[in-house]
Amino acid sequence: MERSSYALLLVAIFIGLYQNLDTLLGTRYGVKGKCAVVTGASSGIGVSIAEALAEEGVSKIIVAARRFKKLSKVAETMKRKYPNTETIAVKVDVLSKSDRVELRKIADEKFGDKCVTILVNNAGVEYWHPFETLPDEKLDQQINVNLLSLMKMTKDFLPRILKARAGHIVNIASQAALFAVPYGQAYAASKAGVRGFTKGIRAEFRHRGKITVGVVLPGYISNTGMYADMQKNSEKKGFENLDEYVWYNKYFVGSSDPYDSSKAVIDSIKYDVPEVNVNYLFGANINRLHSTISEIFPRVWDWVLPNIMVKPVEFTMKLAKLRETEDTFSGK
Ligand SMILES: NC(=O)c1ccc[n+]([C@@H]2O[C@H](COP(=O)([O-])OP(=O)(O)OC[C@H]3O[C@@H](n4cnc5c(N)ncnc54)[C@H](OP(=O)(O)O)[C@@H]3O)[C@@H](O)[C@H]2O)c1
Repeated sequence: MERSSYALLLVAIFIGLYQNLDTLLGTRYGVKGKCAVVTGASSGIGVSIAEALAEEGVSKIIVAARRFKKLSKVAETMKRKYPNTETIAVKVDVLSKSDRVELRKIADEKFGDKCVTILVNNAGVEYWHPFETLPDEKLDQQINVNLLSLMKMTKDFLPRILKARAGHIVNIASQAALFAVPYGQAYAASKAGVRGFTKGIRAEFRHRGKITVGVVLPGYISNTGMYADMQKNSEKKGFENLDEYVWYNKYFVGSSDPYDSSKAVIDSIKYDVPEVNVNYLFGANINRLHSTISEIFPRVWDWVLPNIMVKPVEFTMKLAKLRETEDTFSGK
């Protein structure tokens, strides 16, 4: 074989290993027959996560969020598509202690003692805004919904999991936890917190039974969820050259669809993966590479943002500045 062929073969082996690193050790846990709770399941990737769990054969699933009309529609669709899974819609504001207590009570009643619990903490909010003028309530909301409520929800469900000596917790963070995100500082802080919290409880609880704890870090999801909403709302506000912004996201930091995040949740449980990065460029998991590079060379984003990611930074700055003058922009 020619030298160049050896080199190509080596590159192919490396890419194959790199792509499949998480699953190489084989399936550790099943999902079938277990009982799941998915927060933030009224829209975006929460819907895909709930559907993926039903597809994998969970016997019961609670979908939770505040907008009950939307949530009920999600539950109705799931009941039609997955008749073997019992789907229950519960109106929950994760900020409310009484709502969380009620949710846990409903889970106990519906799931009983025997069914192994899967908790997917997916509810989240973003508010891109210049930090110097970020309203305190928006700062509080992002930290409280994305991080503190997620920690409290986990605490509420831990007794079930520890008593059964089995269970799975999957927390949804974001690539914002790893990269420099101008105008998304509070969101980045909350998601970095989720990543740190997950590592901490993974170390604390995974040896106390058949327990897995993992974090999923989605990147830019192009067709549904908070970024797609942000884009749609920007279009309505007459933002120009959105295609350029999307192009840079897709072809530099990569993109994913909701299916990728829901598959990551399943992988986190099945293969007991501590952390799943979700963003692809031509099928390759680009963010694992980006995050490795920026761990080794932390200054890299100081150069990348003003020299390569010019258009996305321009977009987020424009959006953030507009939010300074408008109260609501999220469209919800
Ligand atoms: N889309 C992306 O590109 C992307 C990238 C990285 C990470 N993520 C993360 O993925 C998760 C899902 O986001 P998404 O993109 O699917 O956005 P989304 O469509 O806006 O979904 C957010 C969900 O969180 C729920 N939620 C918000 N505040 C809540 C509260 N106080 N109590 C209960 N539920 C609440 C919302 O439901 P209600 O409004 O009905 O309560 C909604 O179901 C978030 O944690 C987000 O940070 C998304």
